[in-house]
Amino acid sequence: MSEIVYLNGEFMPADEARIPVLDRGFIFGDGVYEVIPVYSQRPFRLVEHFQRLQRSLDAVRIANPLSGPEWVRLIEEIVARNPGEDQSVYLQVTRGVAKRDHAFPKDAKQTVFVMSGPLSTPGPDKIEHGVAAVTTTDYRWLRCDVKSVSLLANCLLRQHAVDAGAEEVVMLRDGYLSEGSSSNVFAVRNGVLLAPPKNHLVLPGITYDVILELAAATRLPVEVREIPEAEVRGADELWLTSSTKEVLAIATLDGKPVGSGRPGEVFRMMHGEFQIFKRKVMRAAA
Ligand code: PDD
Repeated sequence: MSEIVYLNGEFMPADEARIPVLDRGFIFGDGVYEVIPVYSQRPFRLVEHFQRLQRSLDAVRIANPLSGPEWVRLIEEIVARNPGEDQSVYLQVTRGVAKRDHAFPKDAKQTVFVMSGPLSTPGPDKIEHGVAAVTTTDYRWLRCDVKSVSLLANCLLRQHAVDAGAEEVVMLRDGYLSEGSSSNVFAVRNGVLLAPPKNHLVLPGITYDVILELAAATRLPVEVREIPEAEVRGADELWLTSSTKEVLAIATLDGKPVGSGRPGEVFRMMHGEFQIFKRKVMRAAA
């Protein structure tokens, strides 16, 4: 069964959805997106995802084509029309269809596309043993805080990890930790959780915020600051976080063990807290 998607006001099977070749999303990667995890048919942190969407739209000067309540109804509907309790909703807004010209068109209408598939979070094996990561230079642009569909650099970087037999890259810019190709990165040193600050060099992750909230709630010491390469390489623990990975331990970095080479104690605590928190939030929404 083909999944049901939404395109510019209509729901339809994915294989029937069509966009014109002059859509600026296709021609220039001129658009923004969100990925929203859905647990038990309930979107997680929906308000925060919409706030980030608005921030991205404002940054690239695309007017938001839908109101808050319209977005909420649309997300609810796409979830209801697709199978599965846990889903991953993808939404994309582009500047629309216009004759090819880098400058903004005067009267294009935004293209709105939404789809939802099964949410595939890491399985027990990855949680138990952690994953491999490799370091690389972060050569993306200087607005990594915008969730833009122009993801060519991220695709190249992720493939660099795959070619090295790893799950993700850990990127360094000017000697400091930035993030992964599609995840944020945290470090633990001497019982302190280290997080790179939210600035123009990283995506402000929704999961990143959840982790910092859970750290505060469990009185885990936190330092939000720039993390030099030496501290990344000497970390006791390294974690990846994202809407689809949740929180996942890095077991090896560039083939060398991170700490003991097994997911650490602080990770186990945080992973457990995350699962409890998720269930609590979902129950409250029921
Ligand atoms: N990626 N950094 C980058 C570059 C990302 O692409 C993502 C998410 C994150 C984590 O953000 P969040 O916790 O809000 O998922 C950090 C999504 C999942 C994707 O592109 O598929």
